[in-house]
Amino acid sequence: MAPIADAERRRLRDLDARHHLHPFTVHHDLARRGSRVVVRAEGAWIETADGRRLLDGMAGLWCVNVGYGREELVRAGRAQLAELPYYNTFFQCTTPPATELAAELARLLPAGMERIFFGCSGSEANDTAVKSVWYFWNLQGRPEKKHIVSRRSAYHGVGLGSGSLSGLAHMHAPFDLPLERFHHIGDPHWFRDGGDLDPDSFGRLAASWLEEKILELGPERVAAFWGEPIQGAGGAIVPPASYWPEIERICRKYDVLLVADEVITGFGRTGRTFGFETFGFTPDIVVMAKGLSSGYQPISAVAFGRRVGEAIFAADTEFAHGVTYAGHPVACRVALANLRLMAREGLFTRAAGPAGARFRRRLEALAHHPLVGEVRVCGFLAGIELVADKEARRPFPPERGVGLRAREIAIEEGIVMRAVRDTMILAPPLTLSDGEIDFLAEAVRRTFDRLAAELDRSSG
Ligand SMILES: Cc1ncc(COP(=O)(O)O)c(C=O)c1O
Repeated sequence: MAPIADAERRRLRDLDARHHLHPFTVHHDLARRGSRVVVRAEGAWIETADGRRLLDGMAGLWCVNVGYGREELVRAGRAQLAELPYYNTFFQCTTPPATELAAELARLLPAGMERIFFGCSGSEANDTAVKSVWYFWNLQGRPEKKHIVSRRSAYHGVGLGSGSLSGLAHMHAPFDLPLERFHHIGDPHWFRDGGDLDPDSFGRLAASWLEEKILELGPERVAAFWGEPIQGAGGAIVPPASYWPEIERICRKYDVLLVADEVITGFGRTGRTFGFETFGFTPDIVVMAKGLSSGYQPISAVAFGRRVGEAIFAADTEFAHGVTYAGHPVACRVALANLRLMAREGLFTRAAGPAGARFRRRLEALAHHPLVGEVRVCGFLAGIELVADKEARRPFPPERGVGLRAREIAIEEGIVMRAVRDTMILAPPLTLSDGEIDFLAEAVRRTFDRLAAELDRSSG
């Protein structure tokens, strides 16, 4: 299709700069640089208004797991819009897609995890889970058990509860967060903090910080531990294999609920349906969004294991919580179509097969690059950490903006790659072909080569 004419592109950019406030943005800076206007997409490729095609190494925002332009999802949405575009799930009502999707999720989740609550975003789902944890302990007659522990570099969203769970300092100070009762322990970032320890010893050490925190707060006051199986927006932090089983053991020992935020790691990203399967633990509560509908519709879900789910189900007091669009029929129908397509095409496990192995091999080959400190790959998710000194694991000073520069060069090289400070992140659609995996890896290499040459020039 033809690119949008120059004049129209300029008009959109001007309007955007004048009226549209974007997430996580310095607005006058964006207005000066101008928004990149994305107009269409197909497969793993997005197209900008000036007609450029870019391989989307981020699947949108870690969500378009089945790739763009899947007719089956479009048809499902269209059919539901025509039949019943909206009805609520309050006041004794449901709709067929909401009921079917809840049942389908219960089937995909571990045995006993049968009760599902819908929302519209990952932030909202985490807020629902926070309130559910407090509600649960109130129902148990233990109102003092309310403190929640999460981790530095965590990302759980931007609501008052989910933003408090998040562990990124720049999200807290400007908004007077975190709220009381939220606590953060260190993250299991072996490359940065592991020193001389082997990864598994470090994983056990990082898990022991949870036990220390529980003992400091008093086990009778600690309600839950919250974690993404792989910390995504914090820098693709893949924990050592020893970490999660140890976290689970500690939670059980002190009767602390274990919440897995699967917003990124759910629905095939790590090579299993859920990240907790890859890392070998069983949570009490699972938070889902993004890949649930492959981003085709805004939808999230919280699943409760037997203990919490049955307590909520059996409660005599109303669960006085829920939003207008909870179980939205169009979103649920599209999510169902997405899950069926994923099952049919083997996408829940594709990242654990030959395609995932190729992705890993091609990216791990970049570990030899002089700028690369560590390559972390799990399934179709990767973090490549750029450092000033490989041996000493010394980062670049943040003010050099090395990661952001790499992101810009990557666009020129034809791919979308995200920067979390100087860690470059890839989480492409799970449908990537071998050729696309190779294209992606080659573009990353060219990006790093150009960046290295620029850095040489600026320091020489
Ligand atoms: C692990 C995790 N949890 C929660 C969220 C928040 O989801 P949303 O942006 O849909 O509110 C995100 C978003 O990136 C996420 O990565």
